Amino acid sequence: MGFEAPERARIAYPRACWYVACESSALRKRPIARTVLGTPLALFRGDDARPAALLDRCAHRNLPLSEGHVLAGNVECPYHGWQYDAQGLCRRVPALAEAPEHKGRSVPAFPVVEQQGYIWVFMEPGRAPTGLPYSFPHLGDADYGSIRFASEVEATLHATLENMLDVPHTAFLHRGLFRGGPKRPITAIVRRFGDRAEAEYIGEPRPSGLAGRLLAPRGGTVVHFDRFLLPSIVQVEYRLDESHLVVTNALTPVADFHTRFVSVASFCLPLPSLLVRLVLEPLAKRIFRQDARILRLQTDAARRFGGESYVSTEVDLLGPHIWRLLKQAEQTGMPPAGAAPELERRVELHV
Ligand code: FES
Repeated sequence: MGFEAPERARIAYPRACWYVACESSALRKRPIARTVLGTPLALFRGDDARPAALLDRCAHRNLPLSEGHVLAGNVECPYHGWQYDAQGLCRRVPALAEAPEHKGRSVPAFPVVEQQGYIWVFMEPGRAPTGLPYSFPHLGDADYGSIRFASEVEATLHATLENMLDVPHTAFLHRGLFRGGPKRPITAIVRRFGDRAEAEYIGEPRPSGLAGRLLAPRGGTVVHFDRFLLPSIVQVEYRLDESHLVVTNALTPVADFHTRFVSVASFCLPLPSLLVRLVLEPLAKRIFRQDARILRLQTDAARRFGGESYVSTEVDLLGPHIWRLLKQAEQTGMPPAGAAPELERRVELHV
């Protein structure tokens, strides 16, 4: 057909780490179904309303436990009524005279932590997590306002992570909303550590769009960092004088081309919180809709061509590093936090 054979899609999932399964508010008295890394989970609240996550398949005849009920802290299968506790042990077989506990009757249980209004699941059942889930900065801080948002896109984890940290597209796709005035040179310092990558922008004028004017009504030069942290956190941080805005997204790969995310935008700005909310929320949603459409088109093209094909320039600052870190973590596990960068590069760009 005259084009080069595409690469296979860039799909890599570090498994032994925490992902957001749902918002705390989504998990009430009934079990719910969620899929993380292609694995169906039944989430429910066990003893003391503590959240639990089991593989969503009854050991008896494969029924989804998420279709059942919660009774006395156990989840009950809707078919024959087998009950499982938060550790996945079978605690009741209604028609059986003998004790129900038996090794072969248990289902895999995943470590769960409820934190800052989110339920995080560690995606290696039966393995002790090495640390706690990521903590969103300034959420609940008395000096900051916060906006939460959640949505999903039809795209790979890698494509979504890259999109959220990609500066050049903001001046083009989101012209007028975020950037898009006369182009100006900016210097970026790109650093890759063992467990993360970041771009620090030097001498960046306040972005010209509505979001930039909100951040700094009087203009000026902003301190701007874009960050990726394994396994799936992206963060954009702006500071100017007293103003501070940090937007953190925690992404959850549902399936190869389906990524869910939760966002927390925390801000300390010289404007009333209510006003910031009124402007920032619809603006963020509009920007998100534009990105979601582009990511869906990217996915459609990958499917049509049987895979992806990438050509990058040096202003694709973080995408290649994100892919490298994801792939390494998938193959060799989560690396320790690195204090010193293993790579540092200076890039000039015009946005
Ligand atoms: Fe679950 Fe029979 S299938 S109890």
